[in-house]
Amino acid sequence: MGVPPYYGPDFGRLQRQDPELAQVLLDELDRVRGGLQLIASENLTSPAVLAALGSTLNNKYAEGYPGNRYYGGCEVVDRAERLAIERACQLFGAEHANVQPHSGASANLAAYAALLQPGDTMLAMDLLHGGHLTHGSKMNFSGRWFDVVSYGVRRDTELIDYDEVRDLAVRHRPKVIVCGATSYARLIDFAVFRGISDEVGAWLLADVAHPIGLMAGGAIPSAVPYADVVTYTTHKALRGPRGGGILCTAELAGRIDRAVYPFIQSGPLMHAVAAKAVAFGEALRPEFGEYAKQVVANAQALCDSLGAEGMRPVSGGTDTHLMLIDLRDLGVSGAEAERRCAAAGITLNRNVIPYDPEPPAVTSGMRVGTPCLTTQGMGPQELKEVGTLVVRAVRHPGAAAEVKERVSALLAAFQPYDSEY
Ligand SMILES: Cc1ncc(COP(=O)(O)O)c(C=O)c1O
Repeated sequence: MGVPPYYGPDFGRLQRQDPELAQVLLDELDRVRGGLQLIASENLTSPAVLAALGSTLNNKYAEGYPGNRYYGGCEVVDRAERLAIERACQLFGAEHANVQPHSGASANLAAYAALLQPGDTMLAMDLLHGGHLTHGSKMNFSGRWFDVVSYGVRRDTELIDYDEVRDLAVRHRPKVIVCGATSYARLIDFAVFRGISDEVGAWLLADVAHPIGLMAGGAIPSAVPYADVVTYTTHKALRGPRGGGILCTAELAGRIDRAVYPFIQSGPLMHAVAAKAVAFGEALRPEFGEYAKQVVANAQALCDSLGAEGMRPVSGGTDTHLMLIDLRDLGVSGAEAERRCAAAGITLNRNVIPYDPEPPAVTSGMRVGTPCLTTQGMGPQELKEVGTLVVRAVRHPGAAAEVKERVSALLAAFQPYDSEY
């Protein structure tokens, strides 16, 4: 008997060798199959992506870039990285792509390293208004190493205050302006950010970790034509492996590549790079465009359904895959809503709303998104029902068992990882 041509993950073997850990995998799949996954930053990646992730490419050290590595034997994995780079450039119309960042946070660290020195000034969105930890929070390297000026949203419209952005940029002359957010449901006007950046001579960095999948599918306008550097994650709406990436202009290619390696990382995760190539390949197909548009249509259906039953969407609605809900009219905190939904088989997260009177561990809001349910095949009709279930779970904790049954009934026809995936 010869050696089989391919060696891949063998779950039976894991079960025999380490039943305790194998059970964790089974239980997690059960959890996902048994409830509604409304976390806006999650998705259900495809079996092909999972196959690449679980491959022996995990074993290869490949410090450097294709054709220029510090280890021997990289000629095969070079092909995976070249495919990932070519597909990323094609998908996003970018001049240059670096596919090695281990995560969205690493991508931002590398982008800052390419453009800033410690102590330099950057302008970014306030964490409490929807920005990300890596956009200058004092708890994060970004807030400790850079002089961070923050902008937010207007109290009346709950939309980015572009006048404030311009005023702050003119006053503080940041070297980098960051646009992009983690809990902002509306389109960001990248052209306005470009204009402000040009006016003050700043680099424009768009962190589109969240909506990159919608941009890939043409469901919302892309940041790529406007920003000098675009950072993103591959595991959210893009539906790829857990990881990060950077797109940039040809002018910045060398600086970005040197910032990723050798400045902030050493060996790339070649199995993840290969899985990114698979995900970009999937996103290049017309079906992914349909998926991205469906994610947005579903978010709007869910938002309408929640709003109709008294859950106010911050900024009045959504243009993307997510929405932020202000729970103050219901007299329920974000933390309590998260608990009540969990008891009813609905997974979502509490989230601060702009000008939130509650601390981040409590919050007055929750964030919900549609990438997972859309991957499972649900459409606006189902999302309307999901909205009703969320409202019932939050308003009537005593009805948790009944809501859970309705969740199961809905999921019966839309199972993740069923044979139709
Ligand atoms: C805007 C933004 N940037 C960066 C990140 C960080 O991504 P990761 O968790 O992969 O480090 C996130 C994650 O939620 C995000 O929303």
